[in-house]
Amino acid sequence: MNSFATIQYRRVGRIAYVTLNRPQVLNVFSVQMRDDLFEVLSAIRLDDEICILVLNGAGDRAFCAGADLSEFLTAPSALAARHIRAMRDLWGLMRAMPQPVICALHGYVLGSGVELAMFCDIRIAASDTIFGLPEVHLGILPGAGGTQTVRRAIGLSQSLSMMLANRRINAEEALRCRMLNRVVGRDELADTVEEMAASIAGHKQETVRALKQLVMRGTDLSLLEGLRMEHRRVC
Ligand code: COA
Repeated sequence: MNSFATIQYRRVGRIAYVTLNRPQVLNVFSVQMRDDLFEVLSAIRLDDEICILVLNGAGDRAFCAGADLSEFLTAPSALAARHIRAMRDLWGLMRAMPQPVICALHGYVLGSGVELAMFCDIRIAASDTIFGLPEVHLGILPGAGGTQTVRRAIGLSQSLSMMLANRRINAEEALRCRMLNRVVGRDELADTVEEMAASIAGHKQETVRALKQLVMRGTDLSLLEGLRMEHRRVC
C-alpha cells in the first residue's frame, strides 16, 4: 500500500485500487488531492501489469462531497490556476486512461465527486448514495467536465434540473436515469466491485484495452466512422 497525503493506492494482482482518503471532511477534492491523483494515475496508466482500476472513497459517509470549499478563492491568480490546471489536467488524464475504471460510490457524491465518477467507465453505488451538483447554488460552474459528461449520461432535462435547481437524487433514481450501472446494499459494495474487477482482469489485457479504446473513441465519431474504425482494428 502506498499512502499519499490525500489518497491511498494499493495493487492486488492486476487490479489497482485508489481510495480518496480524507474521510474526516467527506473526502472533499482539494488541490493536493488533484496532484496526488494526477501522480498515481500517471503511473497506473503506464503500468502494463495493471488491467483495471477501482476508485473508491474512505470512511462511511461519502465517496466525495465535492470541492474543498475551504480552498475557495485561495489560488494565487486566475492565470496561475489556469496554467497549473493545464499542466496537471487530471480530467483529461482520467478520460485517457487505457485501463477500464470502475468506481464504487457511497454516501455523499456531490459536485466534483459526481464529475470524478462520470469519468469512470462503470459506476456501482451503494443504496445509501446521494448525488448532487450544487455548484450553481454556490455561485460557481461545474469545472471538471460536469456540464458535458452529466448531460451525456442522463440527458438534458435531468442534468439541467440537477445543476440549476440543485436537485439531489438517490441511488435508485440515479440508476433509472442511467447515471449508474448497478445499485447494491452498502455491505455488498466492496465485494460486488471486486468481483467485477476480477472478472475483467481475467481477460487478455490487450483485448480489454482495445475494446475500451474502440468504444471511447467511437463516442466522438459518427456511426459510419466508428464502424470503419472497428473494421480496421478487427480485420
Ligand atoms: N469543503 C470543505 N469541507 C467540507 C465540505 C466541503 N465541500 N463538505 C463537508 N466538509 C467538512 C465539514 O466542514 C465538516 O468538517 P468539521 O467536522 O471539521 O466541521 C465535515 O466535512 C463533515 O461535514 P458536515 O457538514 O458536518 O456533515 P453533515 O452530515 O452535517 O452534512 C453535507 C453533509 C455533505 C450535506 C454537508 O457537509 C455539505 O453540504 N457540504 C458541502 C457540499 C458542497 O457544497 N460541496 C461543494 C460542491 S462544489
